[in-house]
Amino acid sequence: MALAALIVLGCNSSGKKEEPGYGVQKETPKAETSADFRLNKGVGPVTSVTLGAEVDQKLAEEGKTIYANMCMACHKPDQKFIGPAPKGIFERRSPEWIMNMILNPEQMIKEDPIAKKLLMEFNGAPMANQNLTEAQARAVLEYFRTL
Ligand code: HEC
Repeated sequence: MALAALIVLGCNSSGKKEEPGYGVQKETPKAETSADFRLNKGVGPVTSVTLGAEVDQKLAEEGKTIYANMCMACHKPDQKFIGPAPKGIFERRSPEWIMNMILNPEQMIKEDPIAKKLLMEFNGAPMANQNLTEAQARAVLEYFRTL
């Protein structure tokens, strides 16, 4: 059933690209829900994140290493790959949403409107739970600020 959905989605998107008028890649919408994306904190353990005025370079370095080891199989820093690129992510997601997506992707793709849409956009390929601790996810978030 899931496989069938995947195939159908795959056909749709490749079919669309060949039609005239679909050549221009649509940009990711800035706000994907009726409410401002900043208000969407996602579902999961993280309810509030405070970002410092300056990037914490030491924490960002830690995050970069975690990202290289646990995420690069599917994500490149600045280019779409199996999953989206995190470069510019703060222009479309709240920090809490990002951390909940890292820590609780299974529930996010079931219940969160942005995550559900994203799963469709990526033809049903789900974001993987890499079992990061909250502290590790926070470090990755800080690394994303440097991209
Ligand atoms: C097995 C592949 C895979 C791995 C490993 C993976 N991801 Fe993902 N990720 C995806 C896919 C596919 C999506 C988009 C589809 C979805 O959300 O279900 C995604 C989505 C995301 C998003 C949402 C991006 C956006 O633009 O809204 C974030 C944030 C994210 N991943 C972070 C991470 C981090 C951090 C790691 C490492 C700890 C990681 N991912 C590991 C496949 C992966």
